[in-house]
Amino acid sequence: MAAGSMGVAPATRICALVLNLPFQRRMLGVERVLFCLTNRALKTLVFDHARGLALFYYYGRKKQIAKRYPEPEYSAIIEPFAGAASYSLHGDNWRRDITLIEKDERVADIWRWLINDATPGEILALPDLKVGERSTEFLHIIHAATKMAFKYKRIKVTPVLERNWEISKRVMAANVHKVKHWSIIHGDYTLAEDLEATWFIDPPYKAGSGDGYAYGSSQMNYGALARWVGSRRGQVICCEGIAGDYLPFRPLLDMPGVAGKISKELIYHRFDKQPSQGILL
Ligand SMILES: C[S@@+](CC[C@H](N)C(=O)[O-])C[C@H]1O[C@@H](n2cnc3c(N)ncnc32)[C@H](O)[C@@H]1O
Repeated sequence: MAAGSMGVAPATRICALVLNLPFQRRMLGVERVLFCLTNRALKTLVFDHARGLALFYYYGRKKQIAKRYPEPEYSAIIEPFAGAASYSLHGDNWRRDITLIEKDERVADIWRWLINDATPGEILALPDLKVGERSTEFLHIIHAATKMAFKYKRIKVTPVLERNWEISKRVMAANVHKVKHWSIIHGDYTLAEDLEATWFIDPPYKAGSGDGYAYGSSQMNYGALARWVGSRRGQVICCEGIAGDYLPFRPLLDMPGVAGKISKELIYHRFDKQPSQGILL
């Protein structure tokens, strides 16, 4: 995911508008341009802030596209592949009864800290990172904005990491109150209680794009996941990429990625008020 998801994108868009200034100035006059620029910048900032939220950077997080998934139908939301839990943080979803499950203990530990201990003051007092320093903190390492980060034990701070960490600190401090009533379970997704709820199921994507995590696509049994999905009661929202073939996925959107690459996001959505009889594939 691009660094733009950390808030760099608005600045880039504003710069693009500034570069177009001479042309627009000829066409519209400088006052009009300045008005449009300010208006656009404000809209961009408000839009980006209102649409997505993640408390920390995480490869594969759904911060930018959380708004494209169906609204939750139940007061309880379960994310059995938690990561940064962007769906549960989207809009007012965080107010619901949220349960996260995460197999990577380092990620579960971040959630335990955010839910049980972290205060805004403590978060803001965390040291800033400086380019060239080294860190062994997992919470720093994942801000390097690469899926390779999951394999690193130690990282040299890059300008991207320094900036991402600075933004995350502010976002975490301002929003940590939202997760204080949440629950986190460390372990396999199958540990989830069998409740009628909104299930937001975002596993490591099948094949290459899901192979970076500590528990990635090569460790997943997608047939078993499909059967488990079929036995969930309530509303089921499943995410996948182009290789997703174990459920009747349909296209959701095309995501612009690095170097002009497009990645296809797929969705499977089922909402039945009656207990499910499973999925016949
Ligand atoms: C695609 S990420 C989830 C991203 C998340 N929706 C977000 O918005 O940040 C998938 C997550 O599932 C976790 N995971 C992998 N295998 C798991 C398993 N068997 N049970 C629970 N979590 C697992 C990974 O560690 C990773 O954090």
